[in-house]
Amino acid sequence: MKNIAVFASGGGSNAEALITHFTNSEKGRIALIVTNNSNAGVIDRAQNHDIPFYVLDKDELDEGEFSDVLLALDIDFIVLAGFLKKIPADLVSTYPNKIVNIHPALLPKFGGKGMYGINVHKAVVEAGEKESGITIHYVNTNYDEGQIIEQHRIAILSDDNPEAVAKKVLSIEHQFFAPCIERLL
Ligand code: GRF
Repeated sequence: MKNIAVFASGGGSNAEALITHFTNSEKGRIALIVTNNSNAGVIDRAQNHDIPFYVLDKDELDEGEFSDVLLALDIDFIVLAGFLKKIPADLVSTYPNKIVNIHPALLPKFGGKGMYGINVHKAVVEAGEKESGITIHYVNTNYDEGQIIEQHRIAILSDDNPEAVAKKVLSIEHQFFAPCIERLL
């Protein structure tokens, strides 16, 4: 049984989908929620599910000791689900090919620094794309550049605004992310 830490900075709907999925899993459990935002909605979701959570101090990740905290908590695998800070090299080297992120677009397009949340869907719509989707990938020290594990697509209709695209993308995130993680454990 692998212990998974989920990192999230915002509302945490993906974190909740992971918690729900792994409630009945033989392979893994969500052992910890980590956030850099003490007001994040993901904290409420962790509390509702009695999952321990950890609020990072402002520069704690960059101090290079957070991997010791995770090792002390027997964390085996890290999942980023709407986590906006860059993962430092010490964490990437402590958890090689054990840190996975979900990006709400079809990388390598529409990725990189600043491409998160509605910004991504605005760029996709403005570019006139006919489809978008999700990319699940390993994390290295550059935003959204690790080896791609899986992608899933949604169609963009001519009258879809960025919010409509965001809704379709979030729906397939909730559908595909947790089963993908379970296969990787
Ligand atoms: C999702 O769109 C995900 O693709 C991106 O951040 C968002 C997180 O949403 N990485 P939520 O906090 O899980 O609702």
